[in-house]
Amino acid sequence: MPRHLLRDDDLTPDEQREVLDLADAMKADRFAQRPLEGPKAVAVLFDKPSTRTRISFEVGIAQLGGTPLIVDAQASQLGRGETIGDTARVLSRYVDAIVWRTGDQSRIEEMAAGSSVPVVNALTDQFHPCQVLADLQTVRERFGRLAGLTLTYLGDGANNMAHSLLLGGATAGMHVRICAPEGFQPDGGVVRDAKDRASDTGGGVELVADPHAAVDGADVVVTDTWVSMGQEHDGLDRAAPFRPLQVNGALLERAADGAIVLHCLPAHRGDEITDEVLDGPASAVWDEAENRLHAQKAMLSWLLRQA
Ligand code: CP
Ligand code: NVA
Repeated sequence: MPRHLLRDDDLTPDEQREVLDLADAMKADRFAQRPLEGPKAVAVLFDKPSTRTRISFEVGIAQLGGTPLIVDAQASQLGRGETIGDTARVLSRYVDAIVWRTGDQSRIEEMAAGSSVPVVNALTDQFHPCQVLADLQTVRERFGRLAGLTLTYLGDGANNMAHSLLLGGATAGMHVRICAPEGFQPDGGVVRDAKDRASDTGGGVELVADPHAAVDGADVVVTDTWVSMGQEHDGLDRAAPFRPLQVNGALLERAADGAIVLHCLPAHRGDEITDEVLDGPASAVWDEAENRLHAQKAMLSWLLRQA
């Protein structure tokens, strides 16, 4: 059975550390490691738009010596109703790994169930584990460690970033605080899983209603769009309840000295984050975006090594 990365806790704490170490090595020399030489092929399928994920996977797979196949899934037979299971079986005969950005988590689970090659979640409605590996790499290069640091996420607590930060951060032994408006709290099952993981790693999980209390003493402050892909017409008020959670200069003053700010991007300047913060000295978002490349190269190499 191949290993997959469908959600952040698919990696044990030791495995996560191993992947992050490999990501650092990939960053130190982009062309030193070519484990996909042969070449191995990787299908990268998109049901939703992307800039960073698409380009970083395409460039990364090529740098590893492999062949990237970037596919707009809606233009494939998947978009016309071919089943996910049949697609998985067919793709497994051509490629060495499948990367997919899609909607509900059940879709990527179905892909993994039918696939005989590793499947990587490139964002679902519930999780964005590739992003969080890059986030952890970024935090670790700034602070030299992850365990024991406090990470505060402000925004939609029920979205992919909040869930992945909960699981990925707890796996790394971080103290993860989620500050979300009423009605936008994280999934209870994910919170439970993150707490379980945190109890193994010495990390912690807290849901904090007040944004100032949530940011108090935080080492890492993270935000994300208030309107994720696919939520544009969900009829919920995704403005007024979120406004007090905006990451701006005044809120950031509550964070620890030397705190950094992360945002997976794309940012909605003036909504969840101000120009002052995004372009200011605490912002680590451009390194974070770059680290998508290194973290994903590491993840793919690691998964293929397990196969
Ligand atoms: N952060 C992120 O996943 O960006 P894209 O949607 O551009 O891939
Ligand atoms: N939560 C955002 C992340 C984008 C990278 C979304 O799903 O649209």
